[in-house]
Amino acid sequence: MLRSHQWYGTDGLRSFSHRARTRQLGFLPEEHMGKPVIAILNTWSDINPCHQHLRERAEAVKRGVWQAGGFPLEFPVATLSETFQKPTPMLYRNLLAMETEELLRSYPVDGAVLMGGCDKTTPALLMGAASVDLPTVFVPAGPMLRGHWRGETLGSGTDMWKYWDQKRAGRIGDRELAELECGLARSPGTCMTMGTASTMTSAAEALGVTMPGAAAIPAVDSGHSRMAAAAGLRVVELVREGATLSRFLTREAFEDAITTVLALGGSTNAVIHLTAMAGRSRIPLGLEDFDRIARRVPVLADIRPGGRFLMEDFHYAGGLPGLLARLGAEGLLHLDRPTIAHPTMREQLAGALVHDDEVIRTVDNPVAEQGGLAVLRGNLAPDGAVIKHISAEPHLLKHTGPAVVFDDYRTMQATINDPALGITPDSVLVLRGAGPLGGPGMPEYGMLPIPDYLLKQGVTDMVRLSDARMSGTSYGACVLHIAPESHIGGPLALVRTGDLITLDVTQRTLHLEVSEDELARRRAAWQPPPPRYGRGYGALYEQHITQADTGCDFAFLSRPGEVPEPYAG
Ligand code: FES
Ligand code: MG
Repeated sequence: MLRSHQWYGTDGLRSFSHRARTRQLGFLPEEHMGKPVIAILNTWSDINPCHQHLRERAEAVKRGVWQAGGFPLEFPVATLSETFQKPTPMLYRNLLAMETEELLRSYPVDGAVLMGGCDKTTPALLMGAASVDLPTVFVPAGPMLRGHWRGETLGSGTDMWKYWDQKRAGRIGDRELAELECGLARSPGTCMTMGTASTMTSAAEALGVTMPGAAAIPAVDSGHSRMAAAAGLRVVELVREGATLSRFLTREAFEDAITTVLALGGSTNAVIHLTAMAGRSRIPLGLEDFDRIARRVPVLADIRPGGRFLMEDFHYAGGLPGLLARLGAEGLLHLDRPTIAHPTMREQLAGALVHDDEVIRTVDNPVAEQGGLAVLRGNLAPDGAVIKHISAEPHLLKHTGPAVVFDDYRTMQATINDPALGITPDSVLVLRGAGPLGGPGMPEYGMLPIPDYLLKQGVTDMVRLSDARMSGTSYGACVLHIAPESHIGGPLALVRTGDLITLDVTQRTLHLEVSEDELARRRAAWQPPPPRYGRGYGALYEQHITQADTGCDFAFLSRPGEVPEPYAG
């Protein structure tokens, strides 16, 4: 019996009313009665350039649903535009997760297609859907086309930072900047570097909850419409098979998603999102899982910012099926787990080929021997911190230097170029007050700017520390996600300018060279900051947000517990 039967098919007054209201929508009984109702959750919005094509792309999903004998209903849901939403869309990831969960639960829905891709939309939609556990297919928005400027290929994000630095250093002017504005992001779709968007949509494909190959299809490729239609067809079958999300979101699937993210040289944001997503699936996933897997997974995808190519190249080179086949052949994946499209990942990858060994490297010729991520611990990060060490200059991976501390981002911005601070290439730049609560929402401040006068001397990387996140398209020796954050009195709150800090990536340590006695004195004098929000969603967020090492979900969303089905009939 379909879940939606309670709404449409019973003898009671409620079903009579629901049928009458469906006539009001213009549907005949034979168009929908007894058919699986498929909710299409669409994060399209005029403000979100990465999802601008999803408004019409939903029609392809509907086409597939109708063909398979389902009844599609589109639900517009919140859009989290990485570019426009302030202070950061991370503040609202859990809000979209809640909206997703509550819409799917409170309406007559038998299965769901989730449409998103711009950074936090992927984890948000999947977190909410995992909590409801209906048959579900994720449709990645797809990357935008390669950027282009004066004969050069540009990556969104990565090259935005690069050319902005060049502008600051006086190497390009306003005319060049205006041209770059037109060339950096030149089609609908998500960032086409290996930023958070492609990292998370690739993770979704590795989890087995997208159509095979879906994550790398460029947003404007006709193949994207065909993939969307196939998702619509498939979700109806999943409803008939009773195959809900929890069949696919297993521990093995999450380990494979981590492996995939690492082989892609993906964004550090994946650590937080995958931890939160696994939490919704009742699978304990810790920072140590990432570090353990990172030590055995080579980086094979040569994609910016860590590498040379872009998502469009990756798609033509074989995309995720090609990469996963290569990882699977090395015994790095669990190939016998089911995916939404095939009985096993092994069958899904049968016949998958790599067409360009430059873009998707062989294991003998990797971009890096080890996954680009290390988990650090020490007296400065008792609950862990992460560094994407493949994007750092190697000489900084073991480094001791004096701290230059900034209490918040605005102060840092206003003073970083002041020579009076005495910042040298050996200094360790420390930003605090940028964690889940302090930021709020852990803004992507982790790539602290190098002072202009050092840039002009040719300094291109420095050790930087924060409780913030970093954009997947950023790079450098940036230690991120320091937990607990300074806002709740983590040791980061106790650092003073001039203290020596030692980073040792090989040893996986981050140490503040200050005695325990002195730290205890500083701790006793520390005052917690007052709450920022007097009311509203921000106040809810402040009350319930968890720290980076557990995925920054709300405690009341990630804890175990039952939620009753709504009474409909
Ligand atoms: Fe939307 Fe990068 S801004 S994916
Ligand atoms: Mg980003």
